[in-house]
Amino acid sequence: MTTERQADATTMFDVVKALTRPLRTDRAVPPAPGTPAEAFEALYARRPDPWGVLSSPLAQYRYLALVEAVADYGPCRSMLDVGCGEGALTRYLVGSADTVVGIDGSSTAISRARTRVPKATFTCRTLETYTARESFDLVLAVEVLYYVSNPQAAIEQLLSLGRSVIVSYTTRERQRLEPHLDAFCRREDRQFHRFFGLRRHGFTIARLGAPARGQGPDARLPIRVTYVSP
Ligand SMILES: C[S@@+](CC[C@H](N)C(=O)[O-])C[C@H]1O[C@@H](n2cnc3c(N)ncnc32)[C@H](O)[C@@H]1O
Repeated sequence: MTTERQADATTMFDVVKALTRPLRTDRAVPPAPGTPAEAFEALYARRPDPWGVLSSPLAQYRYLALVEAVADYGPCRSMLDVGCGEGALTRYLVGSADTVVGIDGSSTAISRARTRVPKATFTCRTLETYTARESFDLVLAVEVLYYVSNPQAAIEQLLSLGRSVIVSYTTRERQRLEPHLDAFCRREDRQFHRFFGLRRHGFTIARLGAPARGQGPDARLPIRVTYVSP
């Protein structure tokens, strides 16, 4: 009897642990502006999946919400996943575009992403140093903006790489990032998702550019970005 109870308790503990893992690991690697690529490289070299996103149900929920947002833009010819890490989100994007490119500043993450998502192309580059020959139909920067030293310049760089941009960030970072987004993205183009119905935990998907509903892959995706000069 005691053993059964202990087994039950262990199972519950495991479930809670799995559900809260992204929040705990996120605290272990706090978002900090200007975190250099070397810091991420050291993190990935120390252990695979440092944020626990490959096994976390909350991360899968976040990815599904993003894939739904991406569907509004589809079908797309090309997509760029900025800060793709080990390809945890990229693996869901390859079904929605002919060409999917992932970039990240960590070479270890990029080599794991290549193995995980053979259909995508991966390059070890930071957002700040990346240049592309052609404009992408859709650019995504998911859980990345809070590491850049200059969010405004980063958003401008994202917009220079594609016709439409989606960014996503956790609730804790809203206060810091939203003033930067206000210049580029209308408030109604931001979708707030809550974890467990709690206010503190969740994420926002913000669209910098409007989806081309019901249009074919050759249609030009309109951008409705409100740009306010600094
Ligand atoms: C929290 S992880 C998010 C990974 C993935 N986008 C996801 O949502 O699962 C942040 C990733 O952004 C990358 N990163 C941080 N700053 C970057 C920059 N300036 N340019 C490109 N990648 C960057 C890190 O190496 C890391 O892989």
